[in-house]
Amino acid sequence: MEIQTRPFGSYQGVDYTEIVVKNDAGDCLIFSDLGARINQWSANDTIGQPRSIVVGYDSAEQVFDLDQYYYGATVGPVAGRIKDGLWQDGDKRIQLDQNDGQNHLHGGKSGWAFRRWDYDYSIEGDEAKVVFTLVDDATDSPYPGKVQAQVTYRLTNKHEWFIHYHIVSDERTLINPTNHVYFNLNAALDRPIDNHSLYVAAERYLPITPDHLPTGEKLPVEGTPFDYRTDQVLAPWLAANYPQTLVANGGFDHAFELSQGDGVKAWLYSPTTHWSIEMYTDQPYVVIYTHNDVKQEGKIAGIPRLKHEGITLETQAAPDAIHHEYFGKVVYEPGEVYESTTCYRLFRNVKVLEGE
Ligand code: BGC
Repeated sequence: MEIQTRPFGSYQGVDYTEIVVKNDAGDCLIFSDLGARINQWSANDTIGQPRSIVVGYDSAEQVFDLDQYYYGATVGPVAGRIKDGLWQDGDKRIQLDQNDGQNHLHGGKSGWAFRRWDYDYSIEGDEAKVVFTLVDDATDSPYPGKVQAQVTYRLTNKHEWFIHYHIVSDERTLINPTNHVYFNLNAALDRPIDNHSLYVAAERYLPITPDHLPTGEKLPVEGTPFDYRTDQVLAPWLAANYPQTLVANGGFDHAFELSQGDGVKAWLYSPTTHWSIEMYTDQPYVVIYTHNDVKQEGKIAGIPRLKHEGITLETQAAPDAIHHEYFGKVVYEPGEVYESTTCYRLFRNVKVLEGE
């Protein structure tokens, strides 16, 4: 285990840092204090060459210039959209930024993805740990309360990346963070994720409106492009002439309601590398977004950007939960602790979906 820091560039006079974490199994995870992001996860292939499996930026300048996609970022206080940016809490009307048309998206202009977080790191036995902390209060954000957020990343020697959130506010507020990591297990960003297979332990998904808000319904996945209860290759479904994939611009931008229990909640596999990722979480939903457009040109690691260049597995309560019953808990009372854990585990060279 080894941890080092290095500069990640600066923007408008603020310097940012990368924290480079290596385990004894050859994984290298690179985090940044800009948005408590994961910028890189590489592992060695059969001939010992490192290959990266996540989409991430090369510098802080790139993040501020290009990032409408929240690559690898800690998104908060509330991930996804809130209709009209409005939280009517009894008599209290709280207007959040309308940064996505009429709606609020991913915490708005002062969202956690673009903030500089404090960090600390340590090696404890077989684990490397990086702890990011942020104090978000009314001077920075329209969300009520002084919110203290702590995001802990742990890397083990079993190719596991754990994310743990511990968040508390001194006022009643909204909390529903996620990590916006995009995986591409082809380990080459010029090959889109259409060839990947996906498994999701979900019986229902949430359809969306033309502005990508949930309609409020929960529909069975059965007989739709959203049925991954047994693993399926994505390509035909991403290209399907199906109203709900077309409304998302040709792919997914949808929440899946996860089955309960401790098993694998999602699994992703590339036939090019034979690498796979298992995802575990205690959260009730995963939002799967397949990078269905490229709003800005620009190269990352020298490679032009591409439709479907990555796929997210964003674990959270459902988007716009504040406006729908049974979409998950997002309102927290003063002193009430939000806590959750998600784990992604990498497997190389074997096509095994554990728990199937
Ligand atoms: C949202 C998409 C959005 C993307 C990048 C996803 O979580 O659901 O609609 O385009 O993030 O911001």
